[in-house]
Amino acid sequence: TLDLIGLILISYLLGSFPTAIIAGRLLKKIDIREHGSGNAGATNVFRVLGWKAALAVLFIDMIKGFVPVFFLAPAFSSSPDQVIYFQLIGAIAAILGHMYTIFAGFKGGKGVGTSAGAFLGLAPLPLLLALLTFIVVVSLTRYVSLGSLIASLVFVVILMLQRFAFQMEIPAVLLGISVVIVALIWYAHRSNIKRLLQGNENRIEFKKKG
Ligand code: G3P
Repeated sequence: TLDLIGLILISYLLGSFPTAIIAGRLLKKIDIREHGSGNAGATNVFRVLGWKAALAVLFIDMIKGFVPVFFLAPAFSSSPDQVIYFQLIGAIAAILGHMYTIFAGFKGGKGVGTSAGAFLGLAPLPLLLALLTFIVVVSLTRYVSLGSLIASLVFVVILMLQRFAFQMEIPAVLLGISVVIVALIWYAHRSNIKRLLQGNENRIEFKKKG
């Protein structure tokens, strides 16, 4: 249990690293949460600070999900069959850290990049298909939020198909926690969902900005 508490704590603190907020401070001396959509994530960094900063933020936010799953969980767990549980708990802790960062008044991002980083090796095929879905939806609609929402659904649906239709060895706990994480992502997007339904969600501009 001490190992588990250590894992949760370190993953949460890692996830809490407020990448987008730091980018805003460093590059423009602003609080990113007072600009654009107000979200502390790569999408809003793209809007406010440009694509280079957004790419860097996305990369670091993905690392925050990747490290607990790949490095911390194996290091903290004491038996091989424990690893998957520790990986998923570490992933959730990091995602919650990103969404509710202790370093910036518990107001962080929406968890898409960090979740993608966490699932990079846990479920690569569902993640890849989710990424393709994301690219298609965003290029067709220019709503990043809609891309995130639909892609996260595609992710769990593919995972379910793998387990139930193709009888692949997808652990029940992986499926269960994925559903929880997708629910968290949808909850984090509640203001986006409202705007999408009202027809006034921000679209993304692909024209040069800096
Ligand atoms: O990952 C967040 C994205 O789906 C929406 O970001 O800034 O438009 O709320 P934003």
